[in-house]
Amino acid sequence: MPDHNGKLYIETVGCQMNMLDSELVVAELRQQGFSLTNDVKEADTILFNTCSVRDHAEHKIYSQLGRLKFSKRARPNQVIGVMGCMAQKDQELIFNRAPHVDLVVGTGQLKEIPRLIDEARHQRGRRMAVSLDRKEGSRAEVADSFESYDPARDPSMRPSPYQAFVRIMIGCDKFCTYCVVPMTRGPEQSRPPREIAHEVKLLAGQGVKEVTLLGQTVNSYKVTQDGKLFRLSDLLELIHDTPGIDRIKFVTNYPRDMTDDLLHAVRDIPKIAQYLHVPAQSGCDEMLKRMKRGYTVGEYREMHARIRETLPGCAISSDFIVGMCGESETSYQKSLDLIRECRFKNSFIFKYSPRPGTKAIDLWADDVPDDVKRHRNNEMLSLQNRISEEDNAELIGSTFQVLVEGISKSARKAQAAEGNDDSFLPSDAISDLTPEPPGPVQLVGRSRCDRIVVFNGNPRLAGSLVDVTISDCSATTLMGSIVTLEQQHCETSLPIVL
Ligand code: SAH
Ligand code: SF4
Ligand code: F3S
Repeated sequence: MPDHNGKLYIETVGCQMNMLDSELVVAELRQQGFSLTNDVKEADTILFNTCSVRDHAEHKIYSQLGRLKFSKRARPNQVIGVMGCMAQKDQELIFNRAPHVDLVVGTGQLKEIPRLIDEARHQRGRRMAVSLDRKEGSRAEVADSFESYDPARDPSMRPSPYQAFVRIMIGCDKFCTYCVVPMTRGPEQSRPPREIAHEVKLLAGQGVKEVTLLGQTVNSYKVTQDGKLFRLSDLLELIHDTPGIDRIKFVTNYPRDMTDDLLHAVRDIPKIAQYLHVPAQSGCDEMLKRMKRGYTVGEYREMHARIRETLPGCAISSDFIVGMCGESETSYQKSLDLIRECRFKNSFIFKYSPRPGTKAIDLWADDVPDDVKRHRNNEMLSLQNRISEEDNAELIGSTFQVLVEGISKSARKAQAAEGNDDSFLPSDAISDLTPEPPGPVQLVGRSRCDRIVVFNGNPRLAGSLVDVTISDCSATTLMGSIVTLEQQHCETSLPIVL
């Protein structure tokens, strides 16, 4: 590939949506003659794909930008760009805080990046491409200013050749009072089913086995095509028999939109993962109201029970915010109660971070001290970990169908220490040029219910489905061994779980 455009360094923080954006931007830039480097010092172009969901994520980027001031002095032709959510949210402020930044490109303008880098290289001066603020126009005008960025996919840019994210929606209209995403990602807009189905087919042709459909509230997906209303369940029906695709996942679900048609699709379509990430955020009605989540704890419980009833083996995970303004000890205890009751597979727990531009920061003081937030965060995490470990222990002896992702992190580290470094990366494991590995190594994959499973096997199994019987566990991982063909024949009574 030509590299006449010099070396590109990119750093990505934030959610899966940002990971996908970076993958697509890098693929596009490589096609235009940029080559990737891991060393910021040798980069001609430096991009930060940023997140604004918590103050900490922004703070880190600003301090990194600060450090680049000197590198820019030494290399005046270097182009420094800030893209993503912080770019859309802070706009001019980025230039004020870091005057050596050349580009600010919001989430809805990513297609402008190649042109803007090119211009910045030839002519000094600041360049900004951002979408309209939510109050700067009618809903349709603002929506038009946020464009979904979905160019052709480049297989070499994926972290794993067998897994791919597919965007099905952009934006969010839920306006939870603490959350900046409706501002940074704009109005909720669903991509046409036809486009999504086409992309999934293309990915399958490139060897992808598992697609994860992405949306901030993915189960709110709604499009009218050829006079027919398409919801997420219809979309799943449309794409599930794409040849080559073995698994379909979707994140993140909004509790209020967890309708029965979707649960039935998950139950009836074998390729769909038995896994639902449905953030509760709190177990206290007053807090949920303050968050403007649009449901009560009772309604969340009812939804949870419906999932358990329709999908008995389905893993459910959640997000919680601790220490939001006004969260009393009693409110917090109610969140712990909900975790005890729902026994989530895992929960992501966050300390409340007041965000400029949100309702919460305007309405309420950030009145829970940081040490209390930290204590609640740690305590909640240890409760969740205890539950995860107990529930994983119940799975010892079961057999899971596992989609092999490649060599486990710890085996890779051990190989790197022995000087083998990257020779067994999953992407190499299918290459004809890969030297035959010395024997089985520790592999990692995921079960249909999204549990991480490690086991010994040949790296060439990467990308295939194998049955693994579980013999041990931790809070986050199941350990086991591959069921051999002979075992499968003589142990037909072996329960095959999920
Ligand atoms: N769209 C997803 C989540 C987007 S942000 C959803 O609605 O579930 C990911 C998580 O970050 C949220 O679920 C929430 O738990 C957390 N979060 C969002 N804003 C936050 C804030 N201001 N402070 C702390 N955590 C926050
Ligand atoms: Fe943020 Fe709420 Fe939208 Fe999720 S649903 S992105 S938490 S506003
Ligand atoms: Fe962060 Fe933007 Fe995602 S704020 S969580 S990168 S949508």
